[in-house]
Amino acid sequence: MKKVMKITGLVLSGIVLMLVVFCVYVAAVGVPTYDPPVVPKITVERTPARVARGEVIAQIQCMECHANKENRLTGKYLAEVPSLFGKLYSKNITQDKEKGIGKWTDGEIIYFLRTGVRRDGSYAPIMPQYPNMADEDLKSVVAWLRSDRFPVQATSQEAPPTELSFVSKVLAHTLMKPLPYPQQFIGLPDSTDQVALGKYTADAIGDCFACHSGDMLDQDKVHTEKTAGYYGGGIEMVGEGGKPVVTANLTFDEETGIAKKYTKEQFIQAVKGGVRPDGSILQYPMSPKMMLSDREVGAIFEYLKTVPKIKNDIAKKRAEIQLAQK
Ligand code: HEC
Ligand code: HEC
Repeated sequence: MKKVMKITGLVLSGIVLMLVVFCVYVAAVGVPTYDPPVVPKITVERTPARVARGEVIAQIQCMECHANKENRLTGKYLAEVPSLFGKLYSKNITQDKEKGIGKWTDGEIIYFLRTGVRRDGSYAPIMPQYPNMADEDLKSVVAWLRSDRFPVQATSQEAPPTELSFVSKVLAHTLMKPLPYPQQFIGLPDSTDQVALGKYTADAIGDCFACHSGDMLDQDKVHTEKTAGYYGGGIEMVGEGGKPVVTANLTFDEETGIAKKYTKEQFIQAVKGGVRPDGSILQYPMSPKMMLSDREVGAIFEYLKTVPKIKNDIAKKRAEIQLAQK
């Protein structure tokens, strides 16, 4: 018995020692850096159709995190991120050559959006990666970033540098790592297949699953449907004025999901207009996705019907949080 205790003790102290070494290492290294990548040699042709499509994607993605009050992509404070992750600021991604991304090549932008790794090998753990976005849509984003549209015109204003918490640094070494650059061509979904179009719009373009699943950290960005609590909601976020908001259960569970709460038309109205069927307004950070087409949002509704139902009572969770605040 004594021997067993001794071995257990040794193993435990070994684990503790390893953890301490890991923490010291993380504190010293910060966010890991990688070898400067070999970026693809791509020159994106800037057609009007691409700029228009890029604008749609930018409205529901890039603008939300990078646009200042004047609608310029100067970078800003990301108030909705829980303070556990640190004090996060996005960056200037206008065409400015010094402060923005005016000097980045098209390939460098595409590589970064897929993997999270910059040309110098530095890594941006908080910036979302887009592993499943079609090559064509990614090119549209680049075409828009290079266009003459107001938000991307060069300006030298910028936000302060991000201060990542220790937790974020640990995560950058563990759960939030760079993604590999895809080796294969990624095509657009078959637009006549509602379910495929819906999954693509929700997961690859809208990043809806990232907020509407069970956990912000433990997510499978490539095989999105493997994410824990996929579309079951329940993540607590920081809303307007620092008030907590809880993300909704978007599965078709009859009791706690959207099956009985929304018709397709009402769903489209809520997602694009930001208003629920009962007239209540969806709170920040659930912003209206007004540039998505009715067809795309309707397709998300059809896709959600096929997602495994999850029983997760968000109203109850909201009430508990409000009670705890009093
Ligand atoms: C959820 C918020 C969020 C969204 C959405 C987002 N970004 Fe970012 N982005 C960030 C943050 C935060 C950083 C800064 C990371 C850092 O400081 O390491 C960043 C950094 C970047 C950088 C690196 C800039 C530099 O100088 O290092 C580029 C390029 C970029 N984003 C482009 C985009 C584009 C294009 C989109 C839309 C497809 C987009 N981002 C969407 C939050 C976001
Ligand atoms: C940045 C995180 C975030 C993203 C991204 C996001 N949502 Fe939300 N969503 C929320 C939050 C938070 C709420 C709850 C808002 C409230 O309580 O007023 C919500 C609520 C909703 C509701 C209302 C459900 C109800 O119970 O009435 C719908 C519908 C919805 N989201 C759909 C979507 C779709 C579709 C997408 C992708 C195109 C999406 N959301 C992307 C955070 C997000």
